[in-house]
This record gives sequence, structure tokens and C-alpha cells, in this order.
Amino acid sequence: MTATTFKPRVFSGIQPTNHLQLGNYLGAVKRFVEMQNTGVETVYCIVDLHAITTWQDPADLRHATRELAAGYIASGLDPKRSILFNQSQVPGHAQLAWIFNCVARVGWMNRMTQFKDKAGKNAENASLGLYAYPSLMAADILLYKATQVPVGEDQKQHLELTRDIAAKFNHDFKVDFFPITEPVIEGAATRVMSLRDGSKKMSKSDPSDASRINLTDDANAIAQKFRKARTDAEPLPDTVDGLKDRPEARNLVNIYAALAEISPDAVVSQFAGQGFGAFKPALADLAVAKLAPIADEMSRLMADPAEIDRILGGGAERANAIAQPILDDVYDIVGMIRSRQI
Ligand code: TYM
Repeated sequence: MTATTFKPRVFSGIQPTNHLQLGNYLGAVKRFVEMQNTGVETVYCIVDLHAITTWQDPADLRHATRELAAGYIASGLDPKRSILFNQSQVPGHAQLAWIFNCVARVGWMNRMTQFKDKAGKNAENASLGLYAYPSLMAADILLYKATQVPVGEDQKQHLELTRDIAAKFNHDFKVDFFPITEPVIEGAATRVMSLRDGSKKMSKSDPSDASRINLTDDANAIAQKFRKARTDAEPLPDTVDGLKDRPEARNLVNIYAALAEISPDAVVSQFAGQGFGAFKPALADLAVAKLAPIADEMSRLMADPAEIDRILGGGAERANAIAQPILDDVYDIVGMIRSRQI
């Protein structure tokens, strides 16, 4: 069999839970915009079906969905150039996930570290959806035959599973139907760490608000959080090698590098020998300069929720136009009769 060449297509998604934080922005949204601007076809999703794998208050979920849409657009995603929509408006995600539940093996799911982290000690009481989550994520990607998926480092294992599911489907049904998707985990900020603990990743769900910068934070909050960020007492070294055993310092340097769009090497050579008394205010100023316009634009967009809903609806129609023929082919490959007249 000659290998099929798949049309380049980028897909990624973010859960509408709590506010967007700096890790999501630098590790994901900013990369989404960069990929959009290369001219490749880009499909970006607000994964509301994933969000409900843990309890979400319905009003909060609606608000977070619109806020994430506003965050995407305010960061530079153009709903004309990218397809921007919320997952539940395209039924194929849930439909393909079911097929994949029958392709993926229980043993594969048991190895997922994110399930273990999220379910915690009481895994018996976690939702069945949380357990099957990676199968839905594979469906999100493969419903569009996406070839590239920009994500932060914490999603690597899920993307490996997506590749395994695609390969097993192709093998079981003797087809060359799904691409073996490439993860795109690049840049200085693929794993932004908590500002309070350099061994934990920055997260929307960390109980301490001081551990993260939210995209909705104002200039004062941003400056204060960086000022209070945990660091050591040493000045900055003159090469990045000198940051090896200094996770908090390395984190702040990486954040600076990603915001300034320069390399971590360039950051340390600029600040070599200076202490955090000088570096933290410079970082706070840079963050405010980059993030405040996004926050302002988000609140402007949030003033018109009907317009956001309209954009999501239009995006869902375009997404569905790609997804439905692929889903029809999947059903056909699997052996489902499709004789209903529509
Ligand atoms: P989620 O919603 O947890 O995070 C969204 C994106 O942000 C990245 N990210 C980070 N990057 C750097 N540093 C951090 N501290 C940090 N925290 C989060 C994540 O890696 C991710 O790229 N399962 C996914 C959502 C999803 C998805 C998909 C992604 C569902 N279907 C299909 C890609 C393709 C998730 O929970 O991301």
C-alpha cells in the first residue's frame, strides 16, 4: 500500500474551565496564532465536552466558553482565517469518540498519568468520562484528519495515544485512513511552572491564585504576583546552563523569553549578574505590556455575548462541513448501514 499524503491541517483545543492562565497563553494560544499566521488551515476548539468530565456549574460553563472564545480572538485568532467553535456544536466529536472507545484498550487508558492526577485518591468516584477523556481527544483531532497539534508538554502522552488509536484503526480495518498526527511542542514556554512552586505546572485549577497569572488580571495584580513569585537569592547567571538546578529562576527566564519572543539565552545575557530585584519588575512590565491589551479586548468582546455565540455558530458550521464526510467514511469502513434519507 502506498502511504497516503494528508492535507496539512492544524487542530487544537482548550477546556473552558476557570480563566485562561499564562501557561495556556504561552504554551498554546500564542502558538495557535503563530500557526494561523503561517497560512496553514487551522481549526481551534473550545472543548466543552471535555470540561464536563469534572463537575461544571452550567452558568459558569457558558460564561467560561464565551470568555475562552474572547481570549482566543483577543490574542489574535481571526475567526475568518481560523475555524473557531465549541466542541458540542459538532456532533461528530462524540460520535467518533464512541468508535474510538471500541478501538482503544483499557490498558492504554490505565497508563494515562493525567487521569491519575485528576482523579486523585478517589479514582472509583471519578466520572467514566474522565477515564475515557483521551479517546474523545483523539476523536477531536482525527475527526479533521489533523496532521499537526500544537500543545503544551502536559498533553504529550495524550497525543501519543491519539497516534496509537489512529494506527490501530488503520491496521484493524486495513485502511490508510487516519494520519499519524505530529505533536507540535515547541518554544520556551511548553511547560510554564507555578509562581509559588517551581516543581508544579501553572494551572487554572491550582487553589492558589498567586500561583498563576490569569489573562483577566489587571496590571497591579500581574506586578504583585511576579514580585511575590518564589525565587532563590542568587543573581542571574550568564548562560542558561547556570539555571539547571534553579527551577523557579528558569521558569521566570522562560516566561520572559516567550513574552519577548527571544531565546532564554538572550534573556540571561541581557540580565546576567542582576538580581531578582531588577529582573522581576522588568518581567512584570513586559507582561503588562503584552497582556493588558488582550485583557482589554477580552472585556470589550464579552460585552456582546450574542456576537460571540454567532461566531461560534459560524465556526461550528465550517467545522462540521469538514467533519461530517470524514465521519461518514468512518461509519462505512466500520460497517454501519447508512440508508436514512436526509
Ligand atoms: P487544557 O485545557 O488543560 O490546556 C490547554 C492548553 O494549554 C497548555 N497548557 C500549558 N502549556 C504550558 N505551560 C502550562 N503550565 C500549561 N498549562 C496548560 C496545554 O498543554 C494545552 O495545550 N486535553 C486538553 C484539551 C484538548 C485538546 C484536544 C488539545 C481536548 N482535545 C485536542 C489538543 C487537541 C487539555 O485539557 O488542555
